[in-house]
Amino acid sequence: MEKMAAVIMAAGKGTRMKSDLPKVLHRVMGKSLICYPTQLALGLKCERVVLVVGHGRDEVEAAVRDIKGADRVAFALQEQQLGTGHAVMCGMKALKGTKGPVLILSGDVPLLDKASIDKLKKAFVKSGGRVAFLTFSPEDPAQYGRVLREKGDPVAIREYRDCSRAERQVGEVNAGIYLVDPVFLKKAIKNIGTNNDQGEFYLTDLVEQAAKLGKVGGVEVSPEVVQGINDRADLAAVEETLSMRINEAHMKAGVTIQNPRSVRIETDVKVGADTVIGAGVSLLGSTRIGKGVTVETGAVITDSKVADRAVIKAYCVLESAKVGSEAEIGPMGRLRPGADIRKKAKVGNFVELKKTILGEGSKASHLSYLGDGEIGAGVNIGAGTIFCNYDGFQKHKTVLEDDVFIGSDSQLVAPVTVGKGAYVASGSTVTKDVPKDALAVSRVKQENKLGVAAALKRRLMALKKKALEAKSKKDKSEK
Ligand code: UD1
Ligand code: CA
Repeated sequence: MEKMAAVIMAAGKGTRMKSDLPKVLHRVMGKSLICYPTQLALGLKCERVVLVVGHGRDEVEAAVRDIKGADRVAFALQEQQLGTGHAVMCGMKALKGTKGPVLILSGDVPLLDKASIDKLKKAFVKSGGRVAFLTFSPEDPAQYGRVLREKGDPVAIREYRDCSRAERQVGEVNAGIYLVDPVFLKKAIKNIGTNNDQGEFYLTDLVEQAAKLGKVGGVEVSPEVVQGINDRADLAAVEETLSMRINEAHMKAGVTIQNPRSVRIETDVKVGADTVIGAGVSLLGSTRIGKGVTVETGAVITDSKVADRAVIKAYCVLESAKVGSEAEIGPMGRLRPGADIRKKAKVGNFVELKKTILGEGSKASHLSYLGDGEIGAGVNIGAGTIFCNYDGFQKHKTVLEDDVFIGSDSQLVAPVTVGKGAYVASGSTVTKDVPKDALAVSRVKQENKLGVAAALKRRLMALKKKALEAKSKKDKSEK
């Protein structure tokens, strides 16, 4: 068979989504719907992939631009959505110069796989090479086009609204995926009329036309693979199917996933073997998780890199962050963009880092904000330390050299540098650089006033007693 060309119909609005967003831009596992058929067609080495766009065309075009191989994608405009037949008509010009059979895909069928296309190709060849299409038998055939067969071969696809009562009883329906001979397509597409309930150009007419000339291939596949998305419930169902498919693939590759139904691992995420993922974890975007990593319950990790044997404890949130091998984060740690936690470093509960390197083996164990910082190796950051990085206009940098010790509840007013091995006393506000090996203290000296607390308490107690007496007197006189 010659190399295929592909047309993807993606011009419709998707009225049943009840959305301002064009249907094909709704997301499944973090990726726009339109990316799925586009990637499939490119992966099938189609000579050209024509996207028929209309509603939100600029956004739809932008959504596929970053896909690998997108230079083989051409766009065709369907200004008015006059039906699926019309959509393909609009795509014909952009097919010029290609010779192979035309694979027609729907922008709203994301789970379609290579294996099903192989079946389609076989049916195409076997039936004489004019038209073949995929069918399925869902639990509820709903409004899908019914496949009408005679002596086993398809003779027509009838849209639900045009079906007789008997035809509606047919359980086998059209998946909207076709392989069509280019010469036949060129002629037949012009003969499609609008004599149907919606007055639209129905691509399904091709089947009836082809059946008059010879055999048509109709090959049934599993409903899971060709489920289309027409409303938000479909979107959720497809997402669940895909999510479980992804999780199962990770489990087969050696990842332990506890309660996989609650875990979301988006399509482009990579996870190493012997990693353990707890319940309710989300691994999103371009996240890379190494080998032997532990990700505990409820962690949300987006576009981040986590190296081998690191531990991300419960309910951490990571975004565009890096975590080195054997480092520990959380529970309830927050790493914002540019957080770079080096090997064996520790970030404890309620610690937030942004655009900050935490050097090898360094620790920030409790309740801190560390922004725009460069922290060396072997540094200990006490509870409640704050990098005051923002003056209301600009961000400034805090540098802590190796082996620095920052006492609890200290503030470092940036720009400021604490030299190697220096020590900042608890409760200090550091506004000047601290030289290497120095001790910085910036707080009022302690004074102990003997017996004053006891006297104070006695006075306050007497005041309270007086107030209560006055109140009860007032209440009595009001009765
Ligand atoms: C279509 C089929 C139906 C099949 C179902 C499978 C027809 C007439 N019907 O119905 O037999 O069971 O798919 O999912 O083909 N589109 C355009 N331009 C248009 C109209 C549609 O680009 O003018 C695009 C849509 O954006 C969508 C795809 O074509 O991606 C399918 O259109 P949709 O309106 O969802 O068709 P169905 O009614 O589902
Ligand atoms: Ca549809």
